[in-house]
Amino acid sequence: MWGGRFAAGPASVMREINASIPFDKRLWKQDIAGSKAHVAMLAKQGIVDGEDAQAITEGLNRIAAEYEADGVPVDLDLEDIHMVTESRLAELIGPAAGRLHTARSRNDQVATDFRLWVRDAIDEVEAGLQGLSAMLLTRAEEHADAVMPGFTHLQSAQPVTLGHHLMAYHEMVRRDRSRFADARARLNECPLGAAALAGTGFPIDRHATAAALGFAKPTDNSLDSVSDRDFALDYLMAATQCSLHLSRLAEEFIIWASQPFGFVKLPDAYSTGSSIMPQKRNPDAAELVRGHAGRIMGCMNALCVTMKGLPLAYSKDMQDDKPPVFEAHDLLGLSIAAMTGMIETVTFRTDRMRGLAESGFATATDLADWLVREGDIPFREAHHITGRAVAAAEAAGVQLADLPLETLKAIDARIDERIYAVLTVDASVASRRSHGGTAPDQVRARIAEARNDAKGQ
Ligand code: ARG
Repeated sequence: MWGGRFAAGPASVMREINASIPFDKRLWKQDIAGSKAHVAMLAKQGIVDGEDAQAITEGLNRIAAEYEADGVPVDLDLEDIHMVTESRLAELIGPAAGRLHTARSRNDQVATDFRLWVRDAIDEVEAGLQGLSAMLLTRAEEHADAVMPGFTHLQSAQPVTLGHHLMAYHEMVRRDRSRFADARARLNECPLGAAALAGTGFPIDRHATAAALGFAKPTDNSLDSVSDRDFALDYLMAATQCSLHLSRLAEEFIIWASQPFGFVKLPDAYSTGSSIMPQKRNPDAAELVRGHAGRIMGCMNALCVTMKGLPLAYSKDMQDDKPPVFEAHDLLGLSIAAMTGMIETVTFRTDRMRGLAESGFATATDLADWLVREGDIPFREAHHITGRAVAAAEAAGVQLADLPLETLKAIDARIDERIYAVLTVDASVASRRSHGGTAPDQVRARIAEARNDAKGQ
């Protein structure tokens, strides 16, 4: 395809290092769509005659059918998906195939194909995250009243509801979806027609090809068009952030499934056994979601490092942009699906959660707040009084609500029997009605709002 001035062919290692077809064959659909839009525009502009354009289009359709049926042939000599397709086109329709590449370079071609691919990838991720969001809402609603210990420092802090905890992840996923949507909006400009780097002297219509491929507009600078990979990095950064969220949830499932916690029973379908310890049920799917986040972050890092020192415009280093994006996308897709399945099928052991919420002096803050409210005591002093009550309960080996009134009164005479009503975990969560708080009615309101937002999309 480019050997006119060369006397000798490439060394075999050159052939191998140079070829991207083993991985960029995944761009075939986008490559054919881009070529069809390009040749239709060339014909309309009178740059290629109608008959040749028709032969090219029919040839491309036939190649698409062949790829669909048999896959893309991997021929290292032909380097990449663009050349594999063009050379097959030449076999099918003869010399007219050579007219397709008029006013185009592989540099704008690959930039266009890859943008189209990443755009499709974002749409796939969005569909997956929509399913995950819906599942979080379903399980959160089911457990809007279920009390569990809330933690800071992984120490029992204050009671919360399981529904509230699950809705925290719903918020993260909502932001992830908006990051992908932002990335999609930014990438939706078409580089086709930037040619190798400087634009072209042919009277092409870049607005026509951009519209035909569903882009909002053509890109505005030819050098930037062929050397920008921000769109791929935007995708990888959004994927990294999303995978970090999935990994945190996975980590919680792993902790929660451990015997000392016992907050959840992970379903058989997402667990594995041990070949030596018959009692084992290991949270492998969750561990792999946690592990995949590291690999996705690695992919993002790889492309950042590839791009950071490249002068304008195209350099072959940029061929290395695809493997990390493909890898991250596959890992993210699996992670979203596995996490959605786990959330759908996990058994929450709400009795166990409630028991632990009731046992860690988790309502100490409620006692202090009551002293502030009912006794008009400054919070710092109330905190100190409550600390003494906790110490008394700890010494007696009982919970705060089990301390006799005389003991509490001995600590501070302003305490009276009304205190017992605020020391239960249910009273504690029900009282936290501030916007975004854990009270069951607040959680239900947020779930309803989220369902409403989803309908509006
Ligand atoms: N396979 C190449 C890539 O993925 C296509 C662009 C080749 N351009 C070039 N000037 N050698 O980046």
